[in-house]
Amino acid sequence: MIVLREPNEMRRWSFERRREGKTIGFVPTMGALHEGHASLMREAGRKNDVAVASIFVNPTQFGPNEDFNKYPRMFDADCAMARECGVVAVYAPTAGMMYPPGYATTVSVARLTEGLCGRSRPGHFSGVTTVVAKLFNAVMPHRAYFGQKDAQQCAVIRRMARDLDTGVEIVEMPIVREPDGLAMSSRNAYLSADERAKALALSRALFHAQSLLENGRRDAREIVRAVRERLDGIEADYVELVDAENLEPVNEVSGCVVLAVAARVGATRLIDNIKYCAPAASAGPHTEESAK
Ligand code: PAJ
Repeated sequence: MIVLREPNEMRRWSFERRREGKTIGFVPTMGALHEGHASLMREAGRKNDVAVASIFVNPTQFGPNEDFNKYPRMFDADCAMARECGVVAVYAPTAGMMYPPGYATTVSVARLTEGLCGRSRPGHFSGVTTVVAKLFNAVMPHRAYFGQKDAQQCAVIRRMARDLDTGVEIVEMPIVREPDGLAMSSRNAYLSADERAKALALSRALFHAQSLLENGRRDAREIVRAVRERLDGIEADYVELVDAENLEPVNEVSGCVVLAVAARVGATRLIDNIKYCAPAASAGPHTEESAK
């Protein structure tokens, strides 16, 4: 496995692979890799001739009072995990290389970035889309892999990739969870044992809502209330049921929706969600009638 530090170096490497006729699968990360990242890296290796992962804690997507300085950094362990998952090149640029003096360009996506996490994290998504656009330009992948864990990020990047004619296929992968349900996250490392136990309320509440949806409940207010009631006193930033494509809030569930939660547990902000696709209207929930 090779480690590349400069955009030009990265581009040269990718250009060679493309000249050999190889497809490139890419997984952008901020490191502190866990099984969630591993699932993306393995899939990138399975579905492409070569897999590339980037490790870069991107300063421009953190707000002034957020955790940029304390974000976990463990480059050697990350490289070992990437190699184990079949990654053949790690792109790990420095902040100075990404944002040299005089840097002045931002990529931002309208509308999709206004709700959910965008409301409480101004500037976050333009930091994400800017760095991902830059990473795409350096890595020149055929496909890029993102986790549904960050459902809004997925929708925003899919829009950006399409709008900017990047030609990169965006692949969304399911959320990887701990055995007890907690969605894996690099930020789980901040939780004390007590907070970790409290944080379980998030996935528990979402799974309960999932069973309501599977039983045919369609009223968004009822579903959202059921989640709020099960957060066990955790302070929610938001609980919202939105359309899976445009992220607009829905009143009635139809088609594919995302039920998304952001909440603070102690000082740590956690997010989680479930995706649900309602069967076509005529099918409805399973009934005695339809079973005959
Ligand atoms: P990071 O938080 O490191 O996540 C990298 C990728 O791993 C994202 O696509 C994220 O959705 C995915 N991921 C994280 N936890 C996951 C889980 N439990 N199951 C499945 N996938 C999971 O997201 C970022 O970095 C940054 O914003 C980035 C896109 C790299 C831009 O800086």
